[in-house]
Amino acid sequence: MKIFADTAITEELRDVAHIIDGCTTNPSLIAKSGRKFEDVVKEICGIVNGPISAEVISLEASGMINEARKLSKIHKNIVVKIPMTDEGLKAIKKLKQEKIKTNCTLVFSANQALLAAKAGATYVSPFIGRLDDLGEEGINLVEEIVTIYDNYGFETEIIVASIRNANHVKMAAMIGADIATVPYAVIKEMMKHHLTDKGIAKFLEDWNKVPKAVEKKQSI
Ligand code: E4P
Repeated sequence: MKIFADTAITEELRDVAHIIDGCTTNPSLIAKSGRKFEDVVKEICGIVNGPISAEVISLEASGMINEARKLSKIHKNIVVKIPMTDEGLKAIKKLKQEKIKTNCTLVFSANQALLAAKAGATYVSPFIGRLDDLGEEGINLVEEIVTIYDNYGFETEIIVASIRNANHVKMAAMIGADIATVPYAVIKEMMKHHLTDKGIAKFLEDWNKVPKAVEKKQSI
């Protein structure tokens, strides 16, 4: 499974660049960076070697398509994030014909994911954490989408989004999602286990008990 970083903070991206396969942003994450949209996206393209999602803000297909054309010119790795609406589906279909990659975002049902795939979205982003927030099991949605895409051989890749914890990532991997887009703090959480820290401390403690060879001084 590929891991994308779900952040627009470039310091965070630099720190995890060696283990990520791509990056996703959205207007809220760009706002959190406190920087101009184009500046951040351009900088991210120099850090992340893989697909980078940048979102449109237009609500009508024509506006989405215009924004997408401009965004796709920034860098070959740009993927245009389009919201899951009727207008969004029209835009996705047109952009597919123009060979511009899309990520259909804000997906909360299997039927939405089915339509996104039929329209030709390169990626689909089910938001599992926001479903959990409503008391649902968001990860079940990913399972449904995997089944539907497998049934019909859709090429659209599933990006599990709105991830809140490391268990979400593990569940996404077990279900067979293509990608998880993971907040920086959760990527860090995935690296950790208290027994790893304890094991390192014990190995160092024991290493200090090992007799060390005395270095001979060389006479000139
Ligand atoms: C995905 O592409 C989105 O940027 C993101 O996962 C949204 O997550 P949130 O529900 O934490 O805002």
